[in-house]
Amino acid sequence: MTAVPEDVEWKLLADLVRDRMGLQFDGGRRELLASKLRPRLRDLHLRSFTEYYHYLRFHPSSASEFRNLATHVTNNETYFFREAHQFDLLVRNVIPPLMPSLRARPLRLLSAGCSSGEEAYSLVIALQNSGLELGGLRWTIDGCDVSADRIARARAGVYDEIALRACDAGARARYFTPRDGRFQLKDRHRKGVTFQEANLADSAGAVREGYHAIFCRNLLIYFSPDAFDQLIARFARWLEPGGYLFLGHSESLIDRGSAFLPVCLGQHVVYRKLA
Ligand SMILES: C[S@@+](CC[C@H](N)C(=O)[O-])C[C@H]1O[C@@H](n2cnc3c(N)ncnc32)[C@H](O)[C@@H]1O
Repeated sequence: MTAVPEDVEWKLLADLVRDRMGLQFDGGRRELLASKLRPRLRDLHLRSFTEYYHYLRFHPSSASEFRNLATHVTNNETYFFREAHQFDLLVRNVIPPLMPSLRARPLRLLSAGCSSGEEAYSLVIALQNSGLELGGLRWTIDGCDVSADRIARARAGVYDEIALRACDAGARARYFTPRDGRFQLKDRHRKGVTFQEANLADSAGAVREGYHAIFCRNLLIYFSPDAFDQLIARFARWLEPGGYLFLGHSESLIDRGSAFLPVCLGQHVVYRKLA
């Protein structure tokens, strides 16, 4: 088997991954992609990356292999209450002015690139701790991710200790039930959440609309510039006028033409769809 992909076969495969999933593997990330795919080539008894490229393009199982590929090549790192100040901003700054209109319909949130669900469930807990339910707040939270494996884990709601690294003892006891060395999220903290396998780089993917806020954190850093811009434009269509986009700390829309304005909430920058 080819240990290191040749330039041509490398480019074929990397371009295919970029075009289908938006993910860019160039420079130092080239070896990363190769190392993630080697076990898969072995499982399929393929001798080279070119053979794998042909498999992905032309094999009758191509569609299901793309689902496998998504599981292998994505970075799914996440944990409960990651960058938790953004949940505070949602609760303190974003929701209160919306409350009059939220009497008629629920708050709608999207966790885009939700991995195994920690972000979506952290949002539920933040909303429950806000006290806004007493004022009549209801919500729906959609989590979506290209990895079928991560969506299955999100639905199961059972986590290893590493996912609770930002939880102190009190939070662990309040939100989780210990089970065989792992942690089951309590049912009440799953309220209003649904998960769906979805490729955010696919322009023919599910149409979504009416979100008050979208959390898409630590995904766009892996996207090619084109896929990045296309996804931001899609988010603008999916958000209500004046809706908010929360990105990860190393992601930014500054210097990119887009339908969003950077706004400062407290000391933090978030993005607001122009009304
Ligand atoms: C590093 S995790 C971030 C999880 C969470 N948003 C957070 O910040 O903790 C990035 C997630 O984006 C997902 N992802 C990557 N490309 C995607 C695509 N084209 N469509 C949907 N999800 C994608 C990966 O599967 C992965 O679970």
